[in-house]
Formats: sequence, C-alpha cells, structure tokens
Amino acid sequence: MKILVATEKPFAKIAVDGIRKEIEAAGYELVLLEKYTEKAQLLDAVKDVNAIIIRSDIIDAEVLAAAKDLKIVVRAGAGYDNVDLKAATEHGVCVMNTPGQNANAVAELALGMMVYAVRNFFNGTSGTELMGKKLGIHAYGNVGRNVARIAKGFGMDIYAYDAYCPKEVIEKDGVKVVDSVEELYINCNIISLHIPATPETKGSINYSLLNKVPKGAILVNTARKEVINEDELIKFMIERVDFKYMTDIMPAAHAKFVELFAERYFSTPKKMGAQTSEANINAGIAAAQQIVGFLRDGIDKFKVN
Ligand code: 3PG
Repeated sequence: MKILVATEKPFAKIAVDGIRKEIEAAGYELVLLEKYTEKAQLLDAVKDVNAIIIRSDIIDAEVLAAAKDLKIVVRAGAGYDNVDLKAATEHGVCVMNTPGQNANAVAELALGMMVYAVRNFFNGTSGTELMGKKLGIHAYGNVGRNVARIAKGFGMDIYAYDAYCPKEVIEKDGVKVVDSVEELYINCNIISLHIPATPETKGSINYSLLNKVPKGAILVNTARKEVINEDELIKFMIERVDFKYMTDIMPAAHAKFVELFAERYFSTPKKMGAQTSEANINAGIAAAQQIVGFLRDGIDKFKVN
C-alpha cells in the first residue's frame, strides 16, 4: 500500500517522522509531496496511491478521478470543506477528518489575537484587558471548547451559541448559553468564530449581524474566510470606526482592508492556527493511524461521507 502525504503547507519534520513510523510499521510505503505549487504536481502524485493525508489541500473531482487506486483521504485537521465529498463517495473513497487534534493550537492563536487587538497591536499605547470582558464563542466544537477553557484563565465572562451542541454540554463548562446568534453579537465585546464553511454558513457573517455588536467590539476569525461576507464587513468597518477585525485567514480583499483599516485590521500572512509541532504531530499521526485502521481492519470511525 502506498500512502501519500500531500501538504502544500507542510507539517513540522517531527510530525512527518511520526507519520512515517506509523505507516512503515504497518508495512506500507510513505510518499511525500510538500510545498507543491501546481495542481499538476498533485494530480501526478495521486496516480498510484491508496491513501492520502492532506491539510487544507484541495481534493476535487479531478484529483479523485486521477487517483485510480485511492481508497481513503484523511484531512489531518477539522474542516473538510476542501474535499469534494460527493465526488469522493462516487469514486468509493472514504473521507475522514481528525477532530480535536489541532484544536488547542487554533484556540491559543485566537486568544493571542485577542490580546494583540486589545493591546493596540503592541504599539505601546494604552489598551484594555481581557479580564471581565464578554467573550462570545460562535460554535462550541473542539476549538470553541478550548477557547472557553483558556479564556477562563483570563477571567473573561464567556458566552456561546451553537445550534447543534446541547445546552447542558456548554453550561457544564461554566459558559453561558444564548438562544440565538444575534443575542451573542448583541451581548459580547469579543466574538470568536468557530463555525465550519458550509452552504448554510457561507457569507453568514454579514452587515445585519455585525451591526448588532457593541461599541469597541472585536471579531476574531480563526475559522474560514468564506463565512464572512467581505463586502458587507468592509461597509460595516467604514461606518464603525470603533470595530476591529482579526483574522487567521487572509480575506480576498486583503489589500483593501490594509488600506482602509490599517490600525484595526490584522491578518496572518498564511493560515497558522494549526501550525504548531504539537498540532502537526497530533493530527498527522492520528491521520496515519486512521489510515492503517481503515486499510487493515476496516475501521471507519471519523468517516464524514
Ligand atoms: C482545520 O480545519 O483543521 C484548520 O483550519 C487547520 O487547517 P490547516 O491544516 O490547513 O492548517
């Protein structure tokens, strides 16, 4: 069996070593395609492999058609909006993610961005503190839970909205539940986004929702850029000069954001929430183990299609 690790944004070396160990211990062969720049390289690399480990790499119908011997794709991470699930199912390919494995890394970055925002981008001027501020966690999955855990240490007053997570699960963590997304935005000084990109959520962070936030509010996005209605965010930020946007996913209109909102907009150059050795090791090795479990024993826990 041939297992491909296709990562345009590579894992730390220590994680790749761990993945190799898992794959070779099972008697399989590991092939690496890192930092590739053209889709053609991916199309070529998938031709004769049985399994692929990816991150945000795009696995579309064309890639799946080129991967004639493919049985499984594991997205080493949480969001699998980069995989065409329908095409995968049509090709008889199992798709999995590795839920929770990189969640702490993303949550730490979200809190880091909050500190960076309230301390005026570390420019030396007098800022504010996180303690006592109302934090709104938009979606209470693995990352949202870790954000709540860390935010407690900062002494924040924590709220969450999640359409799918039972109220009791959230309350057990000492987090207050609000009944609607609007209520979260009306109430909170800082909103941390943790919704996946789905047909329902795409563009859902729009003008009418943003318009509900209190004065001086901050939106932190370590989720996906697609959930933001960028044109409406720009319109809102032009009107609301008190509002800050911090993102780990560079908007399509990044240059415009920089030009218009230099002092209250920040984007990382490349999505780096999950870019730690620990997260790479956790997610990468989990992906390798899930592949071995599937190919050898038919275990399909974490299958998403
Ligand atoms: C995820 O969905 O797991 C995160 O967004 C991390 O994505 P990455 O593996 O591309 O850094």
